[in-house]
Amino acid sequence: MNILFAASEVAPFIKTGGLADVAGSLPPALAAAGHQVHVVLPLYEGIGEDWRRQMTFLKYFDVSVAWRQVYCGVFELVRDGVTYWFLDNETYFKRAQLYGHFDDCERFAYFSRAVLETVGQLNWYPDIIHCNDWQTALIPVYLMEERYRIPQLSHARSVFTIHNIEYQGRYGRDVLEDILGLNASYFNEDMLEHFGDVNLMKGAIIAADFVTTVSPTYARELRDPFYAHGLDGVICARESKIRGILNGIDTKLYDPATMPAIARNFTVRAPVTGKKACKAALQGAVGLNENPNVPVIACVSRLVGHKGFGMVVDVLDRIMELDVQMVVLGTGDWHFEEAFRNAQRQYPGRFSAQIMYSAALSNVVYAGADLFLMPSVSEPCGLSQMIAMRFGTVPVVRETGGLRDSVHPYNQYTGEGRGFTFANADPADLFHALQRAVDLYSSDKKAFRALQKAGMTADFTWKNSAGEYLDIYAQLLN
Ligand code: GLC
Repeated sequence: MNILFAASEVAPFIKTGGLADVAGSLPPALAAAGHQVHVVLPLYEGIGEDWRRQMTFLKYFDVSVAWRQVYCGVFELVRDGVTYWFLDNETYFKRAQLYGHFDDCERFAYFSRAVLETVGQLNWYPDIIHCNDWQTALIPVYLMEERYRIPQLSHARSVFTIHNIEYQGRYGRDVLEDILGLNASYFNEDMLEHFGDVNLMKGAIIAADFVTTVSPTYARELRDPFYAHGLDGVICARESKIRGILNGIDTKLYDPATMPAIARNFTVRAPVTGKKACKAALQGAVGLNENPNVPVIACVSRLVGHKGFGMVVDVLDRIMELDVQMVVLGTGDWHFEEAFRNAQRQYPGRFSAQIMYSAALSNVVYAGADLFLMPSVSEPCGLSQMIAMRFGTVPVVRETGGLRDSVHPYNQYTGEGRGFTFANADPADLFHALQRAVDLYSSDKKAFRALQKAGMTADFTWKNSAGEYLDIYAQLLN
């Protein structure tokens, strides 16, 4: 099969969130199964010189953005059996931030058009075009017509993956003709129109031949107004072409036995001394008292409401009354950042607020902490709980989306499970789950080790999930 994977960010080239990790690790898994895989993304300013040096310039051409002809250059880089195409247009992509510009709609309408133009220009035609989130949501919409215009695309099928339904790409009616280059017939409730706006994600859910989301539980949750941010009706009406497939992680990269960034490598057979060294290194790195005996609770996350930080702040003082240390790493809403900075002042040596984005420090945290707190109000999949488990850090999570699918709750009678969970988005329930985890840590080392072991040996590779995607592709082409 020829598979084209389109995403607005792809690790390790450029990343703001979990989408990049998926776009960086699923395509190589598809390629490893023997398929021709191309990944296409914008050539942002933030893609470093080291990568640019490895790219080859292929060609340039014009792309239509409604009535305008706009430049597009294509650079190629081959890595891990995957061909990456970087689409170059400095007007749109030579900017410090990936998203959040006044013309985002135009930038990604351009990108979506450019993706379909590129395959023709380079004479490499995909059987499957796999698109991700609102930034590439127009591709399945455009493909509906392009299939008739370009004979080599007539058999191509589109798959659209929802990584987070909260971000939909909603714009005023006026973008339709002048920016999207679509006529008024697209502005109806069975296409792009949604409550009077143009809604790109809705268009993709309707136009794509198949829709997936990143965990089975999130697929079910999306039928519920609480999770669907206005799109529950659209989802319910198309249930038969929607499926949830749990993301994997790059288990070669996130391997405690080999990761160079951590103080001491360790394996599941003998984790204790390694974890100990990593814990001391973490405490040293973030200004916590060096104490091997108190459990370190960690959060690595964007500090925003839907990640559950409202609840964390509500019970922070109760948490700190326990004999624990806590480290929070991430940036986000100002009032959460402030609350954690205050906690650091209030609990010196016991609470550490690392208000920054740092991949390097996050690995030190995953490896050195004892408990990983991820109380998301909603979480389509979540990757950090899986990474934490790989490093023997026991997760404490709310039972939602991929957290529910990857963190099986501890059963105190059988000893089974991988972590601690709670059902309702309620601060008291969060506190109790955390308290149970802290209790087990201090009262039953053996049972706690069993939980660590269960997490470290869980299968979070892409193998099974990549197989599920390939099954869907094959069915669509049949
Ligand atoms: C989004 C979701 C997150 C998911 C990731 C990758 O960032 O919020 O839950 O893990 O996409 O699919």
